[in-house]
Amino acid sequence: MIEMPIARGKVRAASLHPVATGAIVEPVVEPRATQTLPRVVAIAAAPRSESDSTNSREAQLRALRERHDRECPHCTTSKSHTQTVFGEGNACADVFFVGEAPGETEDTSGRPFVGRAGQKLDEMILAMGLRREDCYIANVLKSRPLDNRTPLPAEVALCGPYLVEQIMIIRPKVLVSLGGPATKLLLKVDTGITKLRGIWTTWIPPQGSGAEPIPVMPTFHPAYLLRNYTVQTRTEVWSDLKAVIQRIAESKSTTPK
Ligand code: URA
Repeated sequence: MIEMPIARGKVRAASLHPVATGAIVEPVVEPRATQTLPRVVAIAAAPRSESDSTNSREAQLRALRERHDRECPHCTTSKSHTQTVFGEGNACADVFFVGEAPGETEDTSGRPFVGRAGQKLDEMILAMGLRREDCYIANVLKSRPLDNRTPLPAEVALCGPYLVEQIMIIRPKVLVSLGGPATKLLLKVDTGITKLRGIWTTWIPPQGSGAEPIPVMPTFHPAYLLRNYTVQTRTEVWSDLKAVIQRIAESKSTTPK
């Protein structure tokens, strides 16, 4: 077994399992410069061509954001938010995390997943051997629902298409849907997250869009994980994330992005 130096001396690789160390369940311990994370997947994705460069995707995302803020029938009429939260991250990300809707902290900052659930998501990303900035993170709804309630189907129908456009610009190798609303939108099903989590499914792009289907791994929302802080839930989430790491590694060994 590999020995690796971390903050409190040497430990065996197996004890870096997030459930064992609490990486998913305890406050993040800043990795030291000398720390080696477990089997890190090199994630910086190379664009296919000049016209498909990071700059081009970023420009498309900026244009989409402006159009969304100008015309989204949900966000332009909702009265419960102070600003929209479009999403952020690497325009060429291999992993795209899809959440539900901004909460209070996100509404204040204009950034997705920066409150308590966001800290948990950061820990999950770190445990995968990635950095937040390697990934793309966005929500089904781009504006905070009143009192943080679950998005209504009518709201999802109005705001959801902009998420679909984000996915088609970024074309990640894997979509990770966090919780029920994101999973329901991406998979067009009404099944609960408990039944769907951990099972690979496929996001089917809109007909005629020319986009490719993308594998989806549904998992529990980090806020659910925080509310249900059990070994079982943590183990299940970690199992889902490990499947994502493996899928990306496999796709990198077979296809260029
Ligand atoms: N929960 C979400 O689903 N999204 C956020 O951005 C924050 C909390």
